Amino acid sequence: SDQRQALKARAAALLKERNAVLVAHYYVDGDLQDLALETGGIVADSLEMARFGRDHASQTLVVAGVRFMGESAKILSPGKTVLMPDLDATCSLDLGCPPDDFAAFCDAHPDRQVVVYANTSAAVKARADWMVTSSCALAIVRHLKDQGQKIIWAPDRHLGRYIQQETGADMLLWNGACIVHDEFKGTELELLKEEHPHAMVLVHPESPEAVVKLADVVGSTSQMLNAVVNGTATEYIVATDNLIMHRMRQLAPGKTLIEAPTAGNAASCKSCAHCPWMAMNALQGVIDCLESGSGEIHVEPDLGLEAKRCIDRMLDFVA
Ligand code: 13P
Ligand code: SF4
Repeated sequence: SDQRQALKARAAALLKERNAVLVAHYYVDGDLQDLALETGGIVADSLEMARFGRDHASQTLVVAGVRFMGESAKILSPGKTVLMPDLDATCSLDLGCPPDDFAAFCDAHPDRQVVVYANTSAAVKARADWMVTSSCALAIVRHLKDQGQKIIWAPDRHLGRYIQQETGADMLLWNGACIVHDEFKGTELELLKEEHPHAMVLVHPESPEAVVKLADVVGSTSQMLNAVVNGTATEYIVATDNLIMHRMRQLAPGKTLIEAPTAGNAASCKSCAHCPWMAMNALQGVIDCLESGSGEIHVEPDLGLEAKRCIDRMLDFVA
């Protein structure tokens, strides 16, 4: 609409004026994704967002995503100003892993390497030996297993179980889950596959075991996008936040995208296939934070330094 175009133009002008760059996740509003790409920013998975923010020359980063993404950007570049359209955008994995409880869990198993998912607070990262994202978790856990290490894994139990099954590593799992991916259903997916026998099934590994088992490709958001762009199939069933389809449609316009089934309906399932916290990101929020400096991420410097070690380790590993 005209109003959206006006907001987008205003946000683009402010990004330029403030020498800021927009770093967006695939799950945010399509206008924000487009704005990021049209203004020299990026739309990416959480690993690529972290790397892009660290390496970009701009002194101001606007991170459109959820809190841990802004925090990681700040931890990696404490000298930069990191703004978010809405600071209340959290994540059920982060909420489900309180730092004190997690520290007690680690203290009880001092012989284990502590591996945490990116979707955690700075305090949890500060306690970890390694941070991983869904795009590199398998490779890093394989590496640790080859070294004979035993592992503490937090917080996502589905991703942890998947990595454990794939690698055979000795892993103690924290009992967290993503409220969005936890809703995808195996039985319904099986029926959908029967209706679309040639469709390729793409699943984010935060999904339950029954869903992951039916996947042709299990991977991070960027890996799922690449599977659509490079795949030879014409139909794709997608088990992740449905806003990723915005970018999939742009990069693979001829292909048919089908949302993987959830048991709920709009009334009973508030988080079916779209993350309520990612949904808090809007054009107006980008404008507000650039105009007023609201939504600035602060990480206590000593804590940030401690948390940075496990992120650097991951980034060095994937380099
Ligand atoms: P990716 O690292 O695959 O982008 O995942 C982040 C996330 O929050 C998935 O729900
Ligand atoms: Fe967290 Fe799930 Fe939302 Fe990703 S989709 S930010 S894991 S709640």
